[in-house]
Amino acid sequence: MTTNVVEQPASHAGSMQEKLISRESYAAIDKWIAKYPAENRQAAVIPALHIIQNANNGYLTRVLMDELAQYLGMPEIAVYEVASFYSMFEHKPVGKHKISICTNISCMLLGSEEILKHLENKFGIKPGQTTPDGKFTIKEVECLGACVGAPMCLIGREYHEHLTPEKIDAILEKLD
Ligand code: FES
Repeated sequence: MTTNVVEQPASHAGSMQEKLISRESYAAIDKWIAKYPAENRQAAVIPALHIIQNANNGYLTRVLMDELAQYLGMPEIAVYEVASFYSMFEHKPVGKHKISICTNISCMLLGSEEILKHLENKFGIKPGQTTPDGKFTIKEVECLGACVGAPMCLIGREYHEHLTPEKIDAILEKLD
């Protein structure tokens, strides 16, 4: 693995033919970069990772992260560190619907283990795995900051709180 510190790259416009990050994603990333002082474009790394992850069916690749590192003028390792620290970033393909079950203290005390077990039995998979049809991934995560609604989970970008096995079944039923 090599690390490169790239001096403030120019705007990406006009040099995209060999890039994997799409023109649309660069445009979205540029909006985030514009929120920070010019010398701190690295501050956009988290939203930028979300943008490239969403554009890549929900997961990051090393090639994408390397390209982003170059664009933000960061060492590649610094991008990997951010992308591997936060549980919302994925490094292998995930299902169409990612169900992140919080199993931290409040959720654990109020029944997250039962919810997780229910999903494991329902789908026949363990946390970190995806159903054979590619529809659902289940994942165990730390506190998502919604302890008052424990037990809870995150599906896509939506929080679902005060879960019971019946309630999560009803939620999943509505997903295509
Ligand atoms: S402990 Fe589950 S959201 Fe905080």
